[in-house]
Amino acid sequence: MNKTKIEFVCQFCGYRSPKWIGKCPDCDNWNSFVTEEFRKDSRKRFNSTHRDKVISITDIAVENIERITTGLNEFDRVLGGGIVPASLTLIGGEPGVGKSTILTQVSNKISENKRKVLYVTAEESTGQLKLRAERLGALSKDFFLIAENCLDTVFDEIKKFSPELVIVDSIQTVYLEDIPSAPGSVSQVRESAGKIMEFAKKTGITFFIVGHVTKEGNIAGPRVLEHLVDTVIYFEGDKGQNFRILRAVKNRFGSTNEIGIFEMTDSGLRDVSNLSDFFISNRVKNEPGSSMFITIEGSRPIAVEIQALVAQSNFGMPRRMAMGVDNQRLNLLVAVLEKKLDMPLFSYDIYVNVAGGLKITETASDLAIAMAIVSSFRNVPLNGETIFIGEIGLLGEIRSVSNLEARLKEAQNLNFRRAFIPEIRLNKIVLEEIVEIPKLETAIEMCFL
Ligand code: TYD
Ligand code: MG
Repeated sequence: MNKTKIEFVCQFCGYRSPKWIGKCPDCDNWNSFVTEEFRKDSRKRFNSTHRDKVISITDIAVENIERITTGLNEFDRVLGGGIVPASLTLIGGEPGVGKSTILTQVSNKISENKRKVLYVTAEESTGQLKLRAERLGALSKDFFLIAENCLDTVFDEIKKFSPELVIVDSIQTVYLEDIPSAPGSVSQVRESAGKIMEFAKKTGITFFIVGHVTKEGNIAGPRVLEHLVDTVIYFEGDKGQNFRILRAVKNRFGSTNEIGIFEMTDSGLRDVSNLSDFFISNRVKNEPGSSMFITIEGSRPIAVEIQALVAQSNFGMPRRMAMGVDNQRLNLLVAVLEKKLDMPLFSYDIYVNVAGGLKITETASDLAIAMAIVSSFRNVPLNGETIFIGEIGLLGEIRSVSNLEARLKEAQNLNFRRAFIPEIRLNKIVLEEIVEIPKLETAIEMCFL
């Protein structure tokens, strides 16, 4: 007899409950429970996948992994130097960010080397995929497509066809026949990914799965799969901007400290190797409200321009708006400027923006943000060949930051002449002038006389 039962499942962590709960006791997310139906008899007993005996770590033989490189340098870099055979990688991102595009490009590059690639398209027709592939110049003979939603059928096809790489686009639109809930539901998504993982390890075939995330990240998808798969990479970027960042958030075969940056062009995604040039190439020099900063993304330094606009406020409540930097941090910096430097910013609206659309999450940008604000407030431009690096404490002191040498090296490569940095008694002088400052006040006095 088929007994069906309704259960409530958390969309984020998969926690199950017999009744609806407002806040998930496991992952603390609010309003995350959705109903799900399952057949009691569809639950199977578990089989152990590991049947090893106890063994000393020194006796374990490890094979050298031979990675498959795609030729898309930024993509290989994020994976830790290429694709590991028999691995399962999840590529998450908002709809339209370019997941299908990059995977079509990757499929093409790999199939050009006489490796069979199967692209399972469960969202688009093969015709639509071909159109995209034509635009990308991805028409290699060993690049095969199938439009199919049922994973059981896909597995049968794979067994007959034995490709080396399989792309499943997307995990939210495929289903397993013996799971009763709809495609896209937590159990369907989790079981499907679990089955793919098992299949990949058994057959040695490499898989990529696509998972959509919305801005709020609140659909059954990537989040519930993160612990299951080998590698998780997220594709970030605004549709309004033409650069995209690929970021590894989990990698069983490499570091998660790497990012890849691509430019979205008419003919697909292209590696951006000179990051700084990309972000500061069209800055306007000698305008008040602009300061230069070197940020660290992954392990790479990138020069960015921080812009601020300080304008007389017409309302009682002045506006504080931060784009690309943290709003709370901006409020804190404004408070320091008001209290420690007696600036009457309470009657001004303040807008801060990172030019180019990059998001900066590190406090090392504090000094550059503060200097851009002061420059706009005084209507005096900062020297365009100076960079500002340093965290600002609540007392107005400049605190040290990580990776200072890498930042200064990048500044040197880009021909900056002067840098304001925290007091760390640097031995190596790489720029023409390095000014070590104890307090924010010192930098302001030196730059605005
Ligand atoms: P797509 O890969 O379909 O997004 P996803 O699979 O993540 O939902 O790509 C979406 C956007 O990329 C689409 O709006 C059009 C744009 N695009 C280009 O600008 N150039 C191109 O060569 C391609 C193929 C897409
Ligand atoms: Mg797509």
